[in-house]
Amino acid sequence: MAHTTQALARKWRPRHFSELIGQQPVVQALRNALQTGRLHHAYLFTGTRGVGKTTLARILAKCFNCESGVTDTPCDQCSACQSIDQGRFPDMLEVDAATNTKVEEMRELLDNAQYLPVVGRFKVYIIDEVHMLSRSAFNSMLKTLEEPPEHVKFILATTDPQKVPVTVLSRCLQFALRQMPPELIAQRLQEILQQEHIDFESQALPLIARAAQGSVRDALSLLDQAIAHGGGRVQTAPVHEMLGTIEREVLLGLLQALAQQDAPALMRGTQTMTLQSLSFDRALQELAHLFHDLSLLQRLPDQRQSLGIAEDLLPLSACWTPVELQLLYQIAVQSRKDLPLAPEESAGFRMALLRMLAFAPGTAPWPSDSTVSTQAIPPPGAPSSRGQPPHPRSEGGKQPLSLKDWPTLVKRLEGMGMAQELARYAEFVTFAKGVLQLRLAPEQRHLLGYQEKLRTALEALLDSDLRLEVLQADQAGESVAVREQRTHEQRLQQAAESLKSDPFVRQVTTLLGGQLVESSIEPRGAEDTGEQS
Ligand SMILES: Nc1ncnc2c1ncn2[C@@H]1O[C@H](COP(=O)(O)OP(=O)(O)OP(=O)(O)O)[C@@H](O)[C@H]1O
Ligand SMILES: [Mg+2]
Ligand SMILES: [Zn+2]
Repeated sequence: MAHTTQALARKWRPRHFSELIGQQPVVQALRNALQTGRLHHAYLFTGTRGVGKTTLARILAKCFNCESGVTDTPCDQCSACQSIDQGRFPDMLEVDAATNTKVEEMRELLDNAQYLPVVGRFKVYIIDEVHMLSRSAFNSMLKTLEEPPEHVKFILATTDPQKVPVTVLSRCLQFALRQMPPELIAQRLQEILQQEHIDFESQALPLIARAAQGSVRDALSLLDQAIAHGGGRVQTAPVHEMLGTIEREVLLGLLQALAQQDAPALMRGTQTMTLQSLSFDRALQELAHLFHDLSLLQRLPDQRQSLGIAEDLLPLSACWTPVELQLLYQIAVQSRKDLPLAPEESAGFRMALLRMLAFAPGTAPWPSDSTVSTQAIPPPGAPSSRGQPPHPRSEGGKQPLSLKDWPTLVKRLEGMGMAQELARYAEFVTFAKGVLQLRLAPEQRHLLGYQEKLRTALEALLDSDLRLEVLQADQAGESVAVREQRTHEQRLQQAAESLKSDPFVRQVTTLLGGQLVESSIEPRGAEDTGEQS
């Protein structure tokens, strides 16, 4: 395959503005300037590794020198364009300040600036990693920057603009390049692989894109590695292996076990990960990512595709409340900080999982979990399930749709507006022979008008006909809303207690004579959900 002869990052360096990904604002500003002829004599590109600084510098050099005239679309045909692309244009001087820090060289270089260009319109100085120049090298550059000859252009690039003296900064037109979002990188990888006719599994690309942490160059180097590692193709499993990342099935398995409160399965999962020497830090990062996706999925269910969230998360999205997901996310993120302090990484990871279980117990997936299926709910008029084998989730042959399942159903009504409100505030009474009985407290009577809406929503969910009876209660009963409120209060209590017993907090309070203001405590993440008053 062609790719082995040249690194992909080099081979696919954009030669035109239009080929760059993700730097639209900068590209647009440069194009405008070129089109209107408002040329500056010094440009500075800042940004992290591999986001296009050097690439932009070279494109700009072509724009300045293309024989067809100063342009934002260099012709690529003239000898100036071609020799710039090949890096042998006599009037383009590329200096890597990381290796040319000596002032003598800088002075010599700049002395040449006064001479007219040999073949081009402008002499272009590209100084990469300009922050590495020594103080005296900066000083000699400053002189030229202050009174630049008409025929000289400076293009500076740095990953660390803080280290560039203000005197230099103030004489440059500065452009900040952005880190690349993983979606854009993955798309770029896909285009390149297609053009290179290299076989790939598309799930592998986001893995590489994310591991590159915003750098297109790193992504392309990883892609080179992945191709080599996978014997000429890019497949998910070998990429996981190469990156030390965790396969999605393993992660989803952990989530499933969390939702089912299956501690043994969680421990087995950790054990397997230890044996495969997977990175627990990565695993927590990935879990945080999944909790983030699940939260989005709950709030914006119809935007799943545009948000790039895979379908396989759907069955899990009803397992936790928004508040629980916030907590899970917080635990995953915070536990990464604790990992280096843990006796062993695996212990730190295990504790994180147990903390998740403790704080956000969740409920088993519905209805993909076969123990809770619509078959458990008899069609109207059918005999009640009493004679049938007891439903696994209902205690000893009670109604198949038990009080325990009701909250799950209510969660699944997310997005149904007032129908869900009615379900949330009503107390579950029974469900038998296709008749669902709920009870509503007097202060929630305004919800009575949504019975029909709720009935049709439930029918759609359960895929069977249903009759709904809403009884009047004398007082507020055990509704999902009431339970949620209580859980929230319990969590506040827990948070307050664990804070009070925290050795650090205790030390501070005794040392400083301070006091914990309990009203200021919030369980983690609760503030984002707007669920409580
Ligand atoms: N915005 C981008 N669009 C497309 N490809 C890019 C982009 N940025 C970087 N690349 C790819 O990464 C390679 C390296 O980019 P470039 O040399 O411009 O990075 P840089 O910002 O100068 O990084 P460094 O700070 O490490 O020098 C390019 O050859 C190209 O393949
Ligand atoms: Mg560079
Ligand atoms: Zn040209």
